[in-house]
Amino acid sequence: MRHLHTDLEQVLVSQEAIQGRVSELALQISSDYQEAERLLVIGVLKGAFIFAADLTRQLSIPHVVDFMALTSYGRSTSSGEVRIVMDLREPIENEHVLLVEDIVDSGQTMRYLDRLLKDRNPASVRTCVMVKKHGDRLKLPIDYVGFDIADVWVVGYGLDYADRHRTLPYIAELKPEVYRKLV
Ligand code: IMP
Ligand code: MG
Repeated sequence: MRHLHTDLEQVLVSQEAIQGRVSELALQISSDYQEAERLLVIGVLKGAFIFAADLTRQLSIPHVVDFMALTSYGRSTSSGEVRIVMDLREPIENEHVLLVEDIVDSGQTMRYLDRLLKDRNPASVRTCVMVKKHGDRLKLPIDYVGFDIADVWVVGYGLDYADRHRTLPYIAELKPEVYRKLV
C-alpha cells in the first residue's frame, strides 16, 4: 500500500475485503433473522462505531441501533478490566439482540457483555465481531466473524491504539516497537 503511516507494519485486511465481508455478514444476518419482528443491534463504543454503521446500513430486515460505551484500564492494551461508561437507553427485555464488537482478543470483554445482556432477559443474544485473534484464550463461540487474524496489534476500521488510527479504511498491523512503547 502506498503512503503507509510509519507506525504501521502492513495492511492485513484491505478496504475492499472489508466491504465485501460486511456485505456477506449483512446478508447472512438478514436471512437468519427473517422471522424476528425486529433486531436490536448493539454497537460497543468506541471501537465498533464504523463496523456497526456499515453493517446496519446493509441489513434488509427491520432493526434498531443502540450503543454501549466501555472503557478498559490501560491506554492501549486489552487489559481485561472493563467498565461501562454509557449504558443502553432502553430495556432489552424480549428483544433479539445482536452485539457488535470490533475485535475479540482474550474474549473477556465479549464474555462480560454477553452475560450482562443475558441477565436483562432478552429474547436472544448473538455476537458479531469484525476480527477475531487466533489467541482468544476463552474460545468463545462468536456467531458472526468477519476475519480471523494472527495475534498482533491491529488498528483501523474502528480499532485504535491509544485512540490513534481508528478511521483508517483498512485494518493494519501496528509495528511491534510502537506497541511496546505504549504498554
Ligand atoms: P478482549 O481481550 O477480548 O477482552 O479485548 C478487549 C478489547 O481490547 C477489545 O474490545 C479492543 O478494544 C481491545 N483490543 C484487543 N486487541 C486489539 C487490537 O489488536 N487492536 C485494537 N484494540 C484491541
Ligand atoms: Mg473495544
